[in-house]
Amino acid sequence: MNNTDLNNQVAIVTGGAQGIGFAVAKKFINMGAIVVLWDHDQKVAEKSAKDLGPNAFAYNVDVTDTDGVEAAAKRVNDEHGKIDVLVANAGIAGLNAAVIDYPIDEWNKVIDINLGGIFNCCRSVLPYMVKSG
Ligand SMILES: NC(=O)c1ccc[n+]([C@@H]2O[C@H](COP(=O)([O-])OP(=O)(O)OC[C@H]3O[C@@H](n4cnc5c(N)ncnc54)[C@H](O)[C@@H]3O)[C@@H](O)[C@H]2O)c1
Repeated sequence: MNNTDLNNQVAIVTGGAQGIGFAVAKKFINMGAIVVLWDHDQKVAEKSAKDLGPNAFAYNVDVTDTDGVEAAAKRVNDEHGKIDVLVANAGIAGLNAAVIDYPIDEWNKVIDINLGGIFNCCRSVLPYMVKSG
């Protein structure tokens, strides 16, 4: 990743409590951003935000919860003044099984999180991004 200047930019990283999302959040913090981690693992997200320092915040968000995601976007705008960046990273690998054996509940879960979750997050942050140009 290039060392782009993200000074005073407000970035949301979904699934930012750990893994790739946390690595992105760390890089963004080093680039000067204010980073809000959206993760449904509140305990890990809070610890991760603490590790990232005073410009990182943890919100308890399940990306499949349309109303919760909308409320979280409003909260970021209210508390940090704007939303500049969304990294829609939260997701799951899903069960590793052949299609013929794949339980429909597991399939729906993958679609809800990996597809519906990204849609919910984009849909909820876009009005704020459009407003701030
Ligand atoms: N690691 C890989 O090799 C790899 C390969 C291809 C795609 N991906 C995708 O990249 C993304 C990050 O991968 P990772 O390896 O860092 O995963 P990870 O499991 O280490 O981290 C995922 C994070 O997303 C959070 N999360 C999961 N479901 C959520 C939900 N419904 N709402 C809010 N937060 C939720 C988890 O709590 C966790 O903190 C995922 O979408 C994954 O599917 C990863």
